[in-house]
Amino acid sequence: MIISGRARVAGVMGWPVGHSLSPRLHGYWLRAYGIDGAYVPLAVHPETFEQAARALPRLGFVGANVTVPHKEAALVLVDHVEPLARRIGAVNTLVVRADGSLEGRNTDGFGFLGNLKAARPEWEAAAGPAVVVGAGGAARAVAAALLDAGAPVVRLVNRTPGRAWALADDLGGSFEVVPWERRALALEGAALLVNTTTLGMVGQPPLELALDSLPVSALVTDIVYAPLKTPLLRAAAERGLPWVDGLGMLLHQARPGFAAWFGREPRVTPALRSFVLQGLGS
Ligand code: ATR
Repeated sequence: MIISGRARVAGVMGWPVGHSLSPRLHGYWLRAYGIDGAYVPLAVHPETFEQAARALPRLGFVGANVTVPHKEAALVLVDHVEPLARRIGAVNTLVVRADGSLEGRNTDGFGFLGNLKAARPEWEAAAGPAVVVGAGGAARAVAAALLDAGAPVVRLVNRTPGRAWALADDLGGSFEVVPWERRALALEGAALLVNTTTLGMVGQPPLELALDSLPVSALVTDIVYAPLKTPLLRAAAERGLPWVDGLGMLLHQARPGFAAWFGREPRVTPALRSFVLQGLGS
């Protein structure tokens, strides 16, 4: 790929950043669309995050993604915050405006819904209660997206109940908090089950959750994508329930940033998916 002196440059700020799949993902789109641009990993220590983010416009960057552990810090330092990012309490996408100011967005919920819509076009948030396992940053983005898309209620299940209550208070809307020990009961009559915790990830214990109470039409999804088919998704498949893996969320959350920085709406295709998959574990 040839990068000229006029190339648009973006990147991903994280610590560590070496395992991020975003350079591979955006690099694929840049090549596929023949765009004069680059997307680079930016290893930024938490102590220097603010300076580094402020330097983006000065270095001529068009923007950046922000990943662990900088998402909350990014919300505080940007000049303009999209209302959704403020509600969630985290920013994952920075856009440098024409005047050099920094705009913060959160595209995780967009990615979550985009993945479900692409994989299961017949699924609708309004179909029934959604069960969200976890109450961290990912759960916030997922719960906000589900309520905005018309879910009648979000049932929150988290090991630490205080975090679930805080999430419900901060976001506002129709929430029920279900104790961790009673999580199987939360599945009754649900239209969606999503795991937003790290349980089921490579090196982590699985999410222990009996799916017997879940209606046969309920969709099961996981934001964990390593492994692609988590123990939760295996259990769903064994019961004959529809399920969607979490890799698509990563792919779809990247779309708004790419469009803002490089001026082209990118497509999530099977070829992109397999190219990004090849980078997993490397
Ligand atoms: P993120 O911002 O990526 O969502 P996080 O804020 O660290 O990450 O949240 C991780 C989630 O996984 C939390 O809901 C956490 O539960 P607690 O709030 O009780 O910590 C959940 N989690 C992690 N390990 C867990 C475990 N062993 N059992 C149950 N829940 C776990």
